[in-house]
Amino acid sequence: ALPYDLSGIRVLVSAGGTREPLDPVRYLGNRSSGKQGYALARAAAQRGAQVTLVAGATDEPGDPAGVDIVRIETATQLAVEMNKRAADADVVIMAAAVADFRPLSVADAKIKKGADGPAPIELDTNPDILRGLVRSREAGDIPASTVIVGFAAETGDERGGVLDHGREKLRRKGTDLLVVNAVGEGKAFGTADNTGWLLSSTGTETALPLASKTLMASQILDEIATLVPDRDGR
Ligand code: C5P
Repeated sequence: ALPYDLSGIRVLVSAGGTREPLDPVRYLGNRSSGKQGYALARAAAQRGAQVTLVAGATDEPGDPAGVDIVRIETATQLAVEMNKRAADADVVIMAAAVADFRPLSVADAKIKKGADGPAPIELDTNPDILRGLVRSREAGDIPASTVIVGFAAETGDERGGVLDHGREKLRRKGTDLLVVNAVGEGKAFGTADNTGWLLSSTGTETALPLASKTLMASQILDEIATLVPDRDGR
């Protein structure tokens, strides 16, 4: 990859997991480490991009250098931040692990052990932020030139399951690129390495061999760099 080949490009990336509160001390969460999203933010900044990272819960010890960081906790907060910022980005990458559901109500005080055993948790559906961003682009609220990238963590046998689910998800979400990871059995979540496919809406399918999340980030950015319109006289 060329150094500074993303100079002047505005990249908005989400990373980490959302936490959906149940009461003041408890939440529903997920195993996202934030590593892949942080690696993308870091690598894009190193290549000259202006990067805003919207981060949920992660295992990352510090903020990436040269990146604007916005903290969120819930999927609702993430949706607000992404929707507010996407129109000013050239590239939007949804690497966050967004909870599909949130508790219907958040208790004001810590939920007590009931005499009759645990109360059921009622859930409500969170918006699909990525799908919403693609819809906003279709509606003209986000420029048509904005490159939108999604992730798909899929379980299943390497070829049949994971890749087929990825192709179907790319069509359904309507993104320009979809990074498909095989997850489960110690793969992807929390690990330093990642593997999968990079699927594009034009039909190209690139295998991403098992590699560090840093190396995978640079491969993903190589593909993104071919899609962004020229800025800064590149
Ligand atoms: O449908 P699925 O959750 O597998 O899709 C994953 C992709 O969609 C990821 O890019 C994730 O960030 C995004 N997503 C989202 N809003 C949701 C769920 C997932 O933007 N509510």
